[in-house]
Amino acid sequence: MKKSKCFLKKLFFNSFLFNNLVSNDSNNNLKNDSIDNYLNKYVYEPAEDSQLLFDATKIILNDFSYNLKINNSNNNNNNNNNNNNTNKNKNKNNNDNNKNRKSMKKILEIGGGSGFVSEKIYELLSETKNESYNLFNEMTITDINPFALKYLKNKFKSIKKNKTIKKNVTNTINITNKKKITNKTINNNDKNKIKIKIKKSNLFKNIHKKYDLILFNPPYLPSDPLDIDDWLNKALVGGKKGNEVILNFIEKLPCFMKQNSISLLLFSSLSSPDEIFKKMDEKALLYNKINEISFDFETIYVYKITKSKLYNYSNKIRLFSHGKKGNIYKIKNVAVKKSRRDDVIGNIKMEYDILNNLKNENYIPKVIKFGKDYDQKEYFLYKFIKGETLESFLNKKQNKKRILKIIISILISINNLDKKNIWKKEFNHPYKNILIKYPRSYLIDFERASFSKKTNMNQFLSFLKGNYMSKIYEKYNISFNKKEIEIIEKEYIKNRNNLNEIIKCFK
Ligand SMILES: C[S@@+](CC[C@H](N)C(=O)[O-])C[C@H]1O[C@@H](n2cnc3c(N)ncnc32)[C@H](O)[C@@H]1O
Repeated sequence: MKKSKCFLKKLFFNSFLFNNLVSNDSNNNLKNDSIDNYLNKYVYEPAEDSQLLFDATKIILNDFSYNLKINNSNNNNNNNNNNNNTNKNKNKNNNDNNKNRKSMKKILEIGGGSGFVSEKIYELLSETKNESYNLFNEMTITDINPFALKYLKNKFKSIKKNKTIKKNVTNTINITNKKKITNKTINNNDKNKIKIKIKKSNLFKNIHKKYDLILFNPPYLPSDPLDIDDWLNKALVGGKKGNEVILNFIEKLPCFMKQNSISLLLFSSLSSPDEIFKKMDEKALLYNKINEISFDFETIYVYKITKSKLYNYSNKIRLFSHGKKGNIYKIKNVAVKKSRRDDVIGNIKMEYDILNNLKNENYIPKVIKFGKDYDQKEYFLYKFIKGETLESFLNKKQNKKRILKIIISILISINNLDKKNIWKKEFNHPYKNILIKYPRSYLIDFERASFSKKTNMNQFLSFLKGNYMSKIYEKYNISFNKKEIEIIEKEYIKNRNNLNEIIKCFK
């Protein structure tokens, strides 16, 4: 049976800890030990996870190329249509060049370790004759581990040195001139020159700009906290549930992404993935699996993470409530309701249409806009209502007048809905889907609503007749004529015109 490298890593890790307990002066070792000895002793040795992250990166880089090709062909078409005015075109080209320089893409690898992933990307971008890789001109590699940083610097120094030697051999020509003879190196790879920056940073702490592609193969194994502060421990263990470092990474990630940036994050089935998905939802990040690899005890995944369209409105997005069907986000004084379901299309649109139909009524949240996110999930924006649920209102100390005022305001709204043939449902348990901002009440959550001749009033009256409300009437000395209401209710179903008679049953 195949054992995952992670499992082997754990075994190795335990024996390493033992050795390290004996001599644990890592900073001294940094000065004394040779870099050749770093790997596997102080610096994470690349394994299947490293390869998986690189494979995912290759897929994503090709996506970038594909998008570039589409953009280019669109630009070419536009240029062909406009080639009459040459001066205008020259200016345009200059502007385009400036724009292109500015729009050169930058990659950040957090926790670069031995540089396995970054080196392969570097080779791919600088050596492969793929015109669209020219889009990238900078790669920043970070790590929290000083040994890894020394290892990385050493590695990239020798990569660059080898590359220059190779170029000099293959591309050097003699240019003879009467006055001077020069050896000039024609650098075929000029276009693909990738600037490498190596930085010490704890996650994003020392990062000050946004990147187009952000990669992270984090420490993702769960383990109890260990007192021993060693670097292989930091490379492997991601906290008690394996996801502490990952959750911190996701928390800060949006600040370092442009609207169309991509991040690739690796984690394991052992890192409590549900908490990772929840965190990404919380930050309004979209995610989908790029690749995975399975072993006896675990599966390792790489997820592609992008920013939701909601970031176009503001960077300050906060998850207000997390539901099975949908999430509600708050952006300043606006709320966004977004579907979480892949299998249901049209529900959010239906809810938006119904609320839009009611936009002149003062008992519903005012809708602002409907949209579809990049993941095709529907959402709509509405004005946030700062209120409390009916349940919370009724549980607080109130008085008879306040309770009656709220009951009457809800009865008026429900009668209005009934007259418009909008059947909202869920009025038998309206504890959470009626908001109170005394003296007003708001009906929320129209996700199951439809146009129908059925009445909402019956459902709400059965709630008012139930045990929960009986205790409230008793507490606040409210009299409610249940017998009379049954007769009035029958009449209501026929014409919906006797709201006043219903109201009069409460004294
Ligand atoms: C699993 S290793 C991956 C190394 C390399 N990227 C690879 O794929 O082979 C995790 C790396 O993240 C680094 N690391 C751990 N915590 C970090 C943090 N908070 N900030 C930056 N790097 C961190 C570790 O030092 C280690 O080099």
